[in-house]
Amino acid sequence: MIILSIDTSCDDTCIAILKIEKKKIKVLSNIVSSQIDIHRKYGGVYPSLAKREHEKNLVPVLKQSLKESGISNLSNINAIAVTIGPGLEPCLWVGLNFAKSLSLIWNIPLIPVNHIEGHILSNFISGNSNSQFPAICLVVSGGHTQLILMKKIKDYKIIGETRDDAAGECFDKTARILGLAYPGGPSIAAEALKSSGELFSVNLPRPMIYSKDYDFSFSGLKTAVLYDYKKRSKKIRTSKEYISEMAKEIQQSIIDVLIKKTIKSAKDYKAKTIILGGGVVANEELQRQFKEKIKKEMPNLLLLTPDSNLCTDNAAMIGIAGYFNKNKALKNPQKIKVNSNLRI
Ligand code: KG4
Ligand code: ZN
Repeated sequence: MIILSIDTSCDDTCIAILKIEKKKIKVLSNIVSSQIDIHRKYGGVYPSLAKREHEKNLVPVLKQSLKESGISNLSNINAIAVTIGPGLEPCLWVGLNFAKSLSLIWNIPLIPVNHIEGHILSNFISGNSNSQFPAICLVVSGGHTQLILMKKIKDYKIIGETRDDAAGECFDKTARILGLAYPGGPSIAAEALKSSGELFSVNLPRPMIYSKDYDFSFSGLKTAVLYDYKKRSKKIRTSKEYISEMAKEIQQSIIDVLIKKTIKSAKDYKAKTIILGGGVVANEELQRQFKEKIKKEMPNLLLLTPDSNLCTDNAAMIGIAGYFNKNKALKNPQKIKVNSNLRI
């Protein structure tokens, strides 16, 4: 089976082609056209600009993905998978309309895909079929922070989520306070590595870390960063030492909360596997501390993390989610709509 997949849910224009043979998945091409340079000057994603860029990029990205995958005959493509939500509504429509046109012209069925399921199933692209259920999935991205109980593939239940900002959003917003470049996650991670010690006794809260539920809250953390930043003299708050120490503490605060809540839910639900997905999982320190903690507290538990290029948005993850949802393929897809708040 060959699947062409499309994701335009946020600020990356993504098209991938996957070949699945005897349950073995081969990524023939996985193109991500990033708009980071365009949005950087606004310190975040500017939806109307993102939509315009998707409109410009889709055709060249399609051409490149067909070329890289070596597919010359379109009749070899068996299905098109496309993200219908959650995400930025104008951006989702661009991808969906493009997919509908291809589906009509090429006469190929269309599979609607949930972006969050894509982040979870990105772990199954390079094998991992031996993972055991139930699993607890932590999806942490720029728009979402969710803990999901997964009884099997396609059987999900959200057991906790953020009540305000997402973890990635917290990285992005606090980076902006410190004058670091967008996206904030990689900028903060890079600064944190430079911190040599505790010169300024920066001490941030770990919001909701001991709450009995599985929810999160990150907006208070952002406010705490702003207060600390404002109370420092200009000389200190613009110093490299302060910025790196603050970056390290922001990263650690987010890591502490994510790990504590995920391990708690894994214990409570007697999970056999923990599955991580989403852009924040690209954070190497988060992955390192997760591994260390699981080894110590739940040594029999399997931890799945996506390949490093599959943590942030991509269309290969939409292709694999499409493959598992191939029963949803529609020959006449005109009625499919986007849903910017789609729940898993
Ligand atoms: O999954 P993703 O690419 O897009 C959404 O679906 O939102 O996630 C993007 C988020 C951004 O907030 C970005 O700052 C964060 O992932 N991110 C990171 C890292 N790389 C990307 N956060 C922490 N550490 C990183 N290395
Ligand atoms: Zn995403």
